[in-house]
Amino acid sequence: MPKFDVMISQDKIAERVREMGAKITKEYAGKPIVVIGVLKGSFLFLADLVRSIENPLTIDFLGVSSYAGTESTGVVKITHDLTKPIAGKHVLIVEDIVDTGLTLQYLVENLKTRNPASLRVACLLDKPSRAKVRVPLEYVGFTIDDEFVVGYGLDYDGLYRNLPHIAIYRGE
Ligand code: PRP
Repeated sequence: MPKFDVMISQDKIAERVREMGAKITKEYAGKPIVVIGVLKGSFLFLADLVRSIENPLTIDFLGVSSYAGTESTGVVKITHDLTKPIAGKHVLIVEDIVDTGLTLQYLVENLKTRNPASLRVACLLDKPSRAKVRVPLEYVGFTIDDEFVVGYGLDYDGLYRNLPHIAIYRGE
């Protein structure tokens, strides 16, 4: 049986995501936003976050893959690209977790070449102790210690994304 310890409860997540949405709404001051979810991990965070943002917005997804097991390989692969150009748009990247920062660094550099009007990042979890590169994060949900976490979109080998809270995964 897998062992989990709850790190962040469902209620705490909901409260923080609402705060983030309110901040985004205020700071974008009515401007339309293109919200880009980074698959797959961000799908629940994105779904909740956009419901707390009051601006007009559209949603697109980027599929990336950088992990095998529990370790980042540092090699980022785009498995699904955006469906529309983002030139001249206000783009908000939505990530579930920033660990080494390598995935986000690659994505930010890649999206910048497409000439958005602005580019910001909202991530639910930041794990600064593991950072190999630092990418500016405009909106951060929680800063966490170096634990392997699952739930609320985050997986271990594809599993446990459906847990409603964030849990520390301690193996089978
Ligand atoms: C996770 C997460 C980030 C990335 C962060 O994705 O969603 O995209 O790893 O790690 P890094 O900062 O070390 O680059 P993953 O590759 O596990 O894919 P998934 O979202 O489909 O689970």
